[in-house]
Amino acid sequence: MLNSQPSQPTSELSSQAASQTVSAAVAKLYDTYPFPPEPLLDAPPPGFNWRWNWLAAYNFCTEQKPVKQNIRILDAGCGTGVGTEYLVYLNPQAQVVGIDLSAGALVLAKERCQKSGVAADSATSRVEFHHLSLYDADQLEGEFDLINCVGVLHHLPDPIRGIQSLAKKLAPGGLMHIFVYGELGRWEIKLMQQAIALLQGNQRGDYRDGVQLGRKIFSALPENNRLVKREQERWSLENQRDECFADMYVHPQEIDYSIDTLFELINASGLEFIGFSNPRVWELERLLGKAPELMERSQGLSDRQRYRLIELLDPETITHYEFFLGRNPLPQNDWSSDQALLAAIPERSPCMDGWDSRCLFNYDYQIINLTENEWRFLKACDRNSQQPEQQTVEQILAGVDLGIEGVRSLLNQQLILLTPLFQKFT
Ligand SMILES: C[S@@+](CC[C@H](N)C(=O)[O-])C[C@H]1O[C@@H](n2cnc3c(N)ncnc32)[C@H](O)[C@@H]1O
Repeated sequence: MLNSQPSQPTSELSSQAASQTVSAAVAKLYDTYPFPPEPLLDAPPPGFNWRWNWLAAYNFCTEQKPVKQNIRILDAGCGTGVGTEYLVYLNPQAQVVGIDLSAGALVLAKERCQKSGVAADSATSRVEFHHLSLYDADQLEGEFDLINCVGVLHHLPDPIRGIQSLAKKLAPGGLMHIFVYGELGRWEIKLMQQAIALLQGNQRGDYRDGVQLGRKIFSALPENNRLVKREQERWSLENQRDECFADMYVHPQEIDYSIDTLFELINASGLEFIGFSNPRVWELERLLGKAPELMERSQGLSDRQRYRLIELLDPETITHYEFFLGRNPLPQNDWSSDQALLAAIPERSPCMDGWDSRCLFNYDYQIINLTENEWRFLKACDRNSQQPEQQTVEQILAGVDLGIEGVRSLLNQQLILLTPLFQKFT
């Protein structure tokens, strides 16, 4: 009973009520159109996404292999469980918990993991799901080493409250992976959302009507209309499915970010910003590389100012931000010391497709061609993960003519993970 809590001011109560109304509308959208609408398979999910592999994600964030792999993972706003299934499959020693506001999406998430059998390799299932809001994450037991929250925070009425609630559940030394929308690359989407809402009038909240109406508007508009062109160039393939169209154009709650507001959200989390998980997008070189004098002038900018410059110069690319946050203490390695690098134990990254061919896909699904000596070094790394007696980089280099810079190159390409002789923490 709300009025039995006299200590809460009226404005707080009304904002809570408004927040509950929005959450109910969001749950209704995803009960009507569970997302993502990927089919349920009776086999494990194909390929990988390195951001959901603890070894690869940890290596990306700290430049070293994590000490433990029997970790706890939270998929916050798991939807129909596509990401959750990968988190279970790619982390065979992990316990995974998925939470979501939509009961309909959770039914599919459970069915997905059961049908594919990803969690069937242990006596007790390695995955469980709860019908729970991010705001109430404190009701979950214990802390998590990895929290994945993709495509969710921007749909909360109060994303800061959401990220703070998750941050409280992140274990020391843990990582959080987040994906939120960017305002510059979604400009046309925002306009179409508002146009649909205007024409829906008091039928707003009828999501099936919204999808039909939106599709009619697109087919009525002239071919060279800016909203139509952006839809066709960028989104129409996925938007053939009504679930995707609804998620994009008839959502009841969406907050889009710029670099400035993104860092307000990050700062409010109290966690450390580690870096974007699509780092190539954030290289100024790809935009101004032809003009060394401009690159030179950019040297004086802070990281945040450089990110802002990139999004100002390339707005249509910035449809979202994806990044890792961490809770200290996290190890810090740069492997600039030859001595430390030679003494480390190397392993081949679990995220590559096509091994042991010399031409394969790397962790980011880019095709790479290994030299003979790189290939031989990786073969020796494989032996390290199979034998109790593990060789150091120095010992392997005694039999493979790659050189220490060749090892650094494998490291920079995320093709190997290293366990250091000594740990350095921040
Ligand atoms: C766009 S879907 C993303 C699903 C999944 N994370 C993915 O990337 O495939 C957003 C999901 O967040 C859920 N959601 C929205 N607000 C939430 C909240 N406050 N607490 C928990 N889940 C929420 C929705 O129900 C929906 O399933």
